[in-house]
Amino acid sequence: MPGSSRLPVSLRETWGARKASARGQLVALNIDVLRNIIFILFLLRWTRKLFYQLKGRGITGSVADVYISTRRYLYGVFLRLPGVRTKVQTEISETLLRLEQKLVPSGPGVVRTVTLPSQGWSEEEVRKALNDLGGMEHTRWEDGWVSGAVYHGGDELLRLQTEAFGKFTVSNPIHPDVFPGVRKMEAEVVAMVLALFNAPEGGCGVSTSGGTESILMACLSARNKAYQERSVTEPEMILPETAHTAFRKAGEYFKIKIHLVACKAPSYRVHLPSVSRLINPNTILLVGSAPNFPHGIIDDISGLSRIAHKKKLPLHVDCCLGSFLVPLLSKAGYESEPFDFKLKGVTSISCDTHKYGFAPKGNSTILYRSDDFRKYQYFISPDWSGGVYGSPGIAGSRPGALIAGCWASLVKQGESGYIDACHKIVGGMKKIEGAIREKPELNTDLKVVGKPLVSVVAFLSNTLDIYDIADTMAHKGWHLNALQNPPAMHIAVTLPIVAAADRLIADLVEVTEEVREKERKRIAQGKGAKGSAKGDTAALYGVAGSLPNKSVVVDLAKGFLDTLYKA
Ligand SMILES: *Cc1c(COP(=O)(O)O)cnc(C)c1O
Ligand SMILES: *[C@@H]1O[C@H](CO)[C@@H](O)[C@H](O)[C@H]1NC(C)=O
Ligand SMILES: *[C@@H]1O[C@H](CO)[C@@H](O)[C@H](O)[C@H]1NC(C)=O
Repeated sequence: MPGSSRLPVSLRETWGARKASARGQLVALNIDVLRNIIFILFLLRWTRKLFYQLKGRGITGSVADVYISTRRYLYGVFLRLPGVRTKVQTEISETLLRLEQKLVPSGPGVVRTVTLPSQGWSEEEVRKALNDLGGMEHTRWEDGWVSGAVYHGGDELLRLQTEAFGKFTVSNPIHPDVFPGVRKMEAEVVAMVLALFNAPEGGCGVSTSGGTESILMACLSARNKAYQERSVTEPEMILPETAHTAFRKAGEYFKIKIHLVACKAPSYRVHLPSVSRLINPNTILLVGSAPNFPHGIIDDISGLSRIAHKKKLPLHVDCCLGSFLVPLLSKAGYESEPFDFKLKGVTSISCDTHKYGFAPKGNSTILYRSDDFRKYQYFISPDWSGGVYGSPGIAGSRPGALIAGCWASLVKQGESGYIDACHKIVGGMKKIEGAIREKPELNTDLKVVGKPLVSVVAFLSNTLDIYDIADTMAHKGWHLNALQNPPAMHIAVTLPIVAAADRLIADLVEVTEEVREKERKRIAQGKGAKGSAKGDTAALYGVAGSLPNKSVVVDLAKGFLDTLYKA
């Protein structure tokens, strides 16, 4: 290095030092700039978040949100204080023990099979055991005592479905060449449901294992679409608070933030201006129900469709419950509202063939306006060592038997069968609704929630404890649904219930009078006096309703799920 070697050593050193310090300054400067940029980005991000929070919920709404979450947090801390915690845990364990005694048969007479029999049972033994299991003491859905759950239950249909199962027990649509009939039936089921919901040219769909999977798939597809087409990495969706909880499940599974919109009295439909305000660049999906599960109310789908169309956002309509009733309301002679693909903003619809489609349990469909939405729910793995792999939904192997059962149910009923069923079921709902609205024994204390048009009628009370009514109905053998926020209960009318509607109304009259009498006594004894012991529903929801932090309810529900797996 002749150039540099000629410089005097001292000079060389200072020069080197200066160069190093300049480099140091440059590095420091760069880090500074970088730090500033990161800080500004950080600031922008939070300003943006704050802006959309304020736009979406307003100042009072935001303050309320902060208040509620602080209260929830502090109450959670309180519940974990040493003394409180032991007391709460003891209460929970006692409740769960009672539950276990109710659900899990025990005692010397009970045979439990918890390891494989070393020698297989004879066919006769299996058959006898199955008969005993089927005959275990239960709430009588067969006689119409159960809300929802079994939607048809007729012997003739049951025989046909069982026959269809038998023919296709070994089949699996993952092998379309091995089971071509199953592939054909599955495609036809989706096509029939698409036609029922007025799908446009290019409409398509997939069949799934139930309403929950259909909803999960709609959310997944919307999330993937927004990620691919708009680079949304922090997805959000906007739900009516009455939307089925499967959407909250999708939020948890797929990390989609959820905004709940109030559905206030008197209509109990989703509040559209709140939906509009909550829309921001992270929004991936709007949701409406036709009808919703709690109150059987159809949201203003036309209004949602206008918003979705204007903002170019996907809109999912949950017709899981409405299934084969809501598309046939007019044909059955009842009032209806637009809710399907005829509204141009509607991009996907979930319809449960296993509810009012009367298919065997484990069957539903998810419909899309076009392949532009459906393609985003597919899972395709091109380079797996097991071969190129693709599947439409969550499951890999699937039961072809269920597809056959579903197809058989649809073609057996036909349009006329479903119109007839719609007539009976909606007629049954209207009979119960009419009784609550018009019978003086009922309408002084019970109020119908909103204006139900389909199969569910919900009611609440401003004067009596509605959970007391639910519990007293349960003592009479009825299995109806308790609701919360606001406290209410509902009846989802099915064909077995139609036949039992008169008895149900008579029992409701009797029970309401009984609870009214109890309330009168309580007032006579002085306001503060507690009535007789509360039933299960009243105990659970009465307490839960007033808790700022529901971790106790979470523990109870977890315990319930654990109990289901006690052999
Ligand atoms: C039943 C129901 C669902 C979910 O269906 P599953 O088949 O139970 O998973 C979704 N939405 C509504 C309105 C429902 O009533
Ligand atoms: C209850 O509060 C705790 C924190 O104190 C929190 O972690 C928890 O998620 C809350 N649970 C519910 C169900 O609100
Ligand atoms: C029926 O049920 C199975 C399993 O639950 C599901 O995989 C299949 O796609 C469903 N088919 C139809 C036609 O609904």
